[in-house]
Amino acid sequence: MAATGSAVGLGNIWKFPYVAGENGGGAFVLVYLGCVALIGLPVLMAEIMLGRRGGRSPVNSMARVAVESGRSERWFLLGLLGIITSFFLLSFYSVIAGWSAAYIFQTASGAFRDISALQIVELFDDFLASPWRLTFWHSVFMLITITVVSFGLHRGLERTIRVLVPGLFLILIILVLYSASTPGFMEGVRFLFKPDFSEFSGQAFLVALGHAFFTLSVATASMLIYGAYLQRSASIASTSVTIAFLDTLSAILAGLAIFPIVFTYALVPDVGPTLVFKSLPIAFGAMPGGSFFGSLFFLLLLFAALGSSISMVEPMVAWITERWKISRPKATWLTGGLIWLFGVGSLLSFNIWQEKRLLGWNYYEIVDALVSLLLLPLGALLLAVFAGWFMTRQASEDELAMPNKRLYQSWRFLVRYVAPLAVLVIVISLLR
Ligand code: PHE
Repeated sequence: MAATGSAVGLGNIWKFPYVAGENGGGAFVLVYLGCVALIGLPVLMAEIMLGRRGGRSPVNSMARVAVESGRSERWFLLGLLGIITSFFLLSFYSVIAGWSAAYIFQTASGAFRDISALQIVELFDDFLASPWRLTFWHSVFMLITITVVSFGLHRGLERTIRVLVPGLFLILIILVLYSASTPGFMEGVRFLFKPDFSEFSGQAFLVALGHAFFTLSVATASMLIYGAYLQRSASIASTSVTIAFLDTLSAILAGLAIFPIVFTYALVPDVGPTLVFKSLPIAFGAMPGGSFFGSLFFLLLLFAALGSSISMVEPMVAWITERWKISRPKATWLTGGLIWLFGVGSLLSFNIWQEKRLLGWNYYEIVDALVSLLLLPLGALLLAVFAGWFMTRQASEDELAMPNKRLYQSWRFLVRYVAPLAVLVIVISLLR
């Protein structure tokens, strides 16, 4: 449950539609689905497996599992890499979650009623132009995250997610039904599902791969720590398949809700990170009960983001409390505070720092690319290599405990050959 809550988040509803929009739609979606099934899913299983085998904080789990297989203890660095990735990821993730929090109230106030699509776009641009409003909502979101994690609310978390995930699906379905009634529906469907490889670039390949890891929460140590908390009796394979399935489904539903609106109202699909916030409010302004459904939507999105943010703070907190024996609340405030600080740089990139660029990229774009295009693929590559080549076969077979030998062999083949080669080929083809 908690791992599903980690996987389903802004990545599905905010990021997937906009990266699909920026990379041309259908072909990108197809490659992304392939990456999830053939690379993301096996690596997800590997990460949960390593976590459960290690049974400690990510750093010590990796060291322990490596030593058990007769390998160097230095594999602890892979746990540390995940923690660092989570750190940077959450720093901007929280800013976007803050947008969602702000829009709960914006929608509830009826601000979108009877105004034009253009005015809705302007409302969001005005919001982005205010560093103070962004800081306020970023801080609110980090405070909620810190509060939950400092209490270590395992049970509270599970209960929230049990309501959250079905709720989110329900509202996505309502939105898709609304979109199906708009004249742009078929164009939206075509955009998402009709592959056109003529303009598909190597860069788009890497974006699809990076997003597959992002959306499954792979290579950020989140799944290492949730693996460590997973009971012995749970099946890692079926848990992972469920996570990947629900995660993909929610992304596709989000795409189906958003693109018809984009085409109906003559917006452009490639506006980037602001896409959801500029398109869905149009639907909320136009549909019956829109203020209610709209604020409910942003509320659920906020909870979905919370399920993810908790899983990004937890690995670092688990490690700090284990390593330095300081209390959980102290470790959480320290971690959360630092993440908050780095996040400020990201939110300023949408206004006063927007044009402060290094090689054409502003701070937010650099951190986003650092995480999605470098740290996630690198971490996933190393996880696959470790699980496939360095961990003994007996240990992984024992830990995965698959009912069927064939299934185990397919998994092993994917982590040994397919995942590492695919990541390497994509990265190398870009470096050329
Ligand atoms: N998978 C989450 C999402 O799609 C993001 C995330 C990444 C969460 C890494 C935890 C760790 O929104």
